[in-house]
Amino acid sequence: MEVVIVEDAAKGGALVAQAIARLLAGRPDALIGVATGSTPVPVYEALAALARRGEADLSRARVAQLDEYVGLPPGHPESYRSVLARQVLEPLGVPEGSFLGPDTAGDIRAACEAYDRALAAAGGVDLQLLGIGTDGHIGFNEPCSSLTSRTRIKTLTERTRADNARFFGHDVGQVPRHVITQGVGTILEARHVVLLATGEAKAEAVAATVEGPLSARCPSSALQLHPHATVVADEAAASRLELAGYFRRTFAGKPPWQGI
Ligand code: GLP
Repeated sequence: MEVVIVEDAAKGGALVAQAIARLLAGRPDALIGVATGSTPVPVYEALAALARRGEADLSRARVAQLDEYVGLPPGHPESYRSVLARQVLEPLGVPEGSFLGPDTAGDIRAACEAYDRALAAAGGVDLQLLGIGTDGHIGFNEPCSSLTSRTRIKTLTERTRADNARFFGHDVGQVPRHVITQGVGTILEARHVVLLATGEAKAEAVAATVEGPLSARCPSSALQLHPHATVVADEAAASRLELAGYFRRTFAGKPPWQGI
């Protein structure tokens, strides 16, 4: 696992956006797995800036959804489908037809299985962008999710519902209890997994991800099993890493052409 410590969220966003632009330069129809929440927003903003300058071309890119709430009415502004339309598809000019996501309207179990098949049929995810929950969840794989899990329905912890209440008028009662998420095993099939973490609230989860034991108690620790996993953390999120000095020296000595 590579750990890159950046000064702040904007620098992290720029670094990840460059990695996506570089991927698209070599493979214009790459399948990018996108995450929601506050953390990836600087990535999408930096990518939009690159696209405006002609340094990133997303016209042929394909985009895959990581997770989704269950039970929100169709078109609800906080459904992740709506959030991704606002934050990714529209500003980056990704055509609607290039979007892959689970169908939450009908038979949920069938939709989950169909989504895993659709990801595989699309050739698999080239780069999966992840945020991290304060409890170490990735996607919506809450603690004790199987590390080989596939896309399925999950129940949110009260901590995650409280963390996400800010998107629902700070009313935790409005946050759905159930979600569909790519499984940990599904996520690990992406060719490159990039986890971005910013802010002090993520410091404990980042330390557990990178330096803790491999354990379903902290689902993000499964990234330790991935041959190409990159954790990009700002100073605050990296503040509990025992090996921070090593990670800084390693990245500082890396030739820029290597990217992340
Ligand atoms: C939600 C999403 C995750 C995201 C997490 C952290 O639970 N399902 O994909 O990583 O929130 O969100 P934020 O980046 O807003 O802290």
